Amino acid sequence: MESYHISGGKTLEGEYRLKGAKNAVLPILAATIISGRTSRIKNCPRLSDIRTMMAILEEMGCGVSWDGSDILVDSSPVNSFRIPQKLMKEIRSSVFLMGPTLARCGQVILSDPGGCAIGKRPIDIHLAALRLLGVDIAEKDGLLECRAKSLKGAVIPLSFPSVGATENVMMAAVMAEGETRILNPAKEPEIVDLQNYLTSCGADITGAGTEEIRIIGGLPLHETEYEPIPDRIEAGTILTAAAAVRGKVLLKGAAPEHMDSVLDCLEESGCKIWRQDHSVYLEASSPLKAVKPIETRPYPGFPTDMQSQFMALMCLAEGTTEITEAIFENRFKHVAELNRMGARIRIAGKTAMIEGVESLRGQRVTAADLRGGAALVIAGLAAEGDTIVENISHIDRGYDRLEDILTGLGARIERVVEP
Ligand code: UD1
Repeated sequence: MESYHISGGKTLEGEYRLKGAKNAVLPILAATIISGRTSRIKNCPRLSDIRTMMAILEEMGCGVSWDGSDILVDSSPVNSFRIPQKLMKEIRSSVFLMGPTLARCGQVILSDPGGCAIGKRPIDIHLAALRLLGVDIAEKDGLLECRAKSLKGAVIPLSFPSVGATENVMMAAVMAEGETRILNPAKEPEIVDLQNYLTSCGADITGAGTEEIRIIGGLPLHETEYEPIPDRIEAGTILTAAAAVRGKVLLKGAAPEHMDSVLDCLEESGCKIWRQDHSVYLEASSPLKAVKPIETRPYPGFPTDMQSQFMALMCLAEGTTEITEAIFENRFKHVAELNRMGARIRIAGKTAMIEGVESLRGQRVTAADLRGGAALVIAGLAAEGDTIVENISHIDRGYDRLEDILTGLGARIERVVEP
């Protein structure tokens, strides 16, 4: 088992160039199946979730390789519509393979998706939407068997703007006959990015990021080269870490326009932020203050993927901050660990009340999920003394060697293999 050993109290200073967004790259990799051609996806992070997605594509017959930081996928040889069960359990994002595999093969067999243990993550909205496109879905021996004689364009109202369901419908509809309209779709920048990738292959999709997405299906697709958007959660995590240790950090290759809710909260907490076209700079020299109540929301609201990191920061702010997790249940596993480091957090239902303290103290803590693990690293960087964060395989799912990123900015953090 690997752990992070962190010596707290060092500030973060310097610059870092962001990588492509995990939550954009994963659905785009799934979408490469549709075209039956070659896709070059540029500036991808080397994350365990991405390696798992590549392994799934390979098992389904694709040629998949790294070329520097680009991923090449040749989906012409796809020869299976079964998503390998063992790999499927490893990543939640494997659920994105439903839409593309249906588009390419007319059928898909899969098991329940895996992923972070952050509460119930049902896929009923995905299934209801795919049924409207003409897909028959049956459950047999714990497997979902989905088949469509032919996919037919339809009007698809989503009961909640689910990111995954919106992506699945977009990908299936690219090969459906006629027009599909997705009403109440998710508006996350990663949705716009998926539209842009599919358009770069020759698909006809418009409206991503608005109240309605329109897809004209059945166009022939071709090979493409595509660079996904920068990772707004990697960016938010580094800036929040810098804020916690009173640092000064410049992020290059950033898209600050995707990060307003988080940047606004950082500003409100006393940090100075400069937003430019492709960079964002944070300087944290004034004392940290509690911010107005935060509730996680679909984009452009405060992202659930930044809830735990921002909570770690608010542990050190003057005053009390209220953070409500409205997207996922059970996404407060970091709270008990932060409290063991000296934080004062109380939970009432979906809401955490964070009463700021003067300082945190180093402790041996355990990451229970990806972003909660990142929160413990932030707390460890800011704490007095040494912190050990165990179970960092969770963190590797979403950050490409977080220790290298932070060491490059002046932190003392080491990856240690523990028996
Ligand atoms: C979610 C986040 C997304 C983030 C991703 C990775 C939101 C709205 N979505 O996307 O920003 O990048 O995690 O961490 O913040 N739901 C159902 N039935 C379904 C699908 C979803 O009830 O079929 C519920 C979920 O249980 C959850 C909510 O809808 O409460 C959000 O789901 P969804 O957006 O689909 O989640 P992800 O696609 O995983």
